[in-house]
Amino acid sequence: MKWQKRTPEEIKSKIFEALSKNVNYSSEIILGVPASYLDEKVFPQNKTFLKDAAFLSALVQNPNHIGCHTLGESESFFHGTQEIERELIEICGVDILKGEKDELDGYVASGGTEANIQAIWIYRNYFQSVYSAKTSEIAIICSQDSHYSMDKAANILGLQLFKVTTDEQTKTLQKNDLCRILDDSEAQGIRYYIVVANMLTTVFGSVDNPTIYTDELTKRKANFKLHIDGAYGGFYYPFSNKHTNLNFSNPFVSSVTLDAHKMAQAPYGTGIFLIRKGFIHFATTKQASYVEGEDCTLSGSRSGANALAVWMILSTYGQNGWFEKIFILQKRTDYLCEKLEELELEFFRDPNSNIVAIRSSSMAHEIAEKYHLVPDNHHEANWYKIVVMEHVTLDKLEPFLADLKHHFSKPMIL
Ligand SMILES: Cc1ncc(COP(=O)(O)O)c(C=O)c1O
Repeated sequence: MKWQKRTPEEIKSKIFEALSKNVNYSSEIILGVPASYLDEKVFPQNKTFLKDAAFLSALVQNPNHIGCHTLGESESFFHGTQEIERELIEICGVDILKGEKDELDGYVASGGTEANIQAIWIYRNYFQSVYSAKTSEIAIICSQDSHYSMDKAANILGLQLFKVTTDEQTKTLQKNDLCRILDDSEAQGIRYYIVVANMLTTVFGSVDNPTIYTDELTKRKANFKLHIDGAYGGFYYPFSNKHTNLNFSNPFVSSVTLDAHKMAQAPYGTGIFLIRKGFIHFATTKQASYVEGEDCTLSGSRSGANALAVWMILSTYGQNGWFEKIFILQKRTDYLCEKLEELELEFFRDPNSNIVAIRSSSMAHEIAEKYHLVPDNHHEANWYKIVVMEHVTLDKLEPFLADLKHHFSKPMIL
């Protein structure tokens, strides 16, 4: 297992060692790249505090992780820190998502949006290249509760998008609506499907059962690829539900998005894209001839410091530490839900998620504003959500619950 708990000293020395293997713009003669350290007038490297600050040092040295580093050949200038990114991809793909070592490719994307678009881009090109599919014959299928990055992907890539309705109470995929979509789209000439299942939806924290998609599509002998959008839940759900099949142990799953800048509290710019080997080259841009190893990512240049930050976070906890972290968040969310039930308020929560969506009829607008709950729709809210993050402690939930109790026990004015 790659995912080890490391001491702060071990983490620091591994990061500094990696940085030392990267290009040195001061001591070497580097003439050909449009890159250097951060402007030294503004961010001088000789500050003593930087000697103990591995992440800040990485920011200042500014490695560019352009391209994908799980394929073999990459930009040699930054090979020291690319090695850490490779280790991070293995931790996420193998230790968290139950893939096989050396059987996955991946990279640290700008976020969940990019990672989702990257997956859909690859599959569109795969269908076009392997089956000579016309763009008009390829469609995306996801749920009505999916993130709007699906709409962006459909728009950018020129694909049709079909959204399966979910049950109002349980938020589960409606199989009869999926069948209706498949019947209608087949009649319209769709032959290839890019299916995206959610591992925690943005508003409800609901989880799609991928078998609903794969059983029906297999029964119809449809040609499809399955991507998991775990931007919200990727660093949470695999730990709260050990029996999930939203990972690479499920042979239908080809790729997964995780976002370290959500539940893993990493810097923004740390979406993680993972895909089984044999697919990422469908997004290779051959014209990227000046990039060593070519480029099969949507990003182009991207900060290597981001990959190091996620590796540092995961290495600080180790696998057991991460289980404990999620366990505590689960217990706090259980507590919140018990109190909401006592108040007889209406809410949705998947038992393995830390998102609680409260119906607007069970919420007072002023309380939602006071505690900065996020509505599903800023114009007309139907739901307000709470995300039980590290900073959402019982001490912070108590005054909110007391206000709710006070509000809903007010005598009715007739
Ligand atoms: C389920 C889901 N997918 C994708 C995204 C997009 O992530 P990002 O904002 O990092 O692009 C989000 C963001 O909230 C999300 O909740």
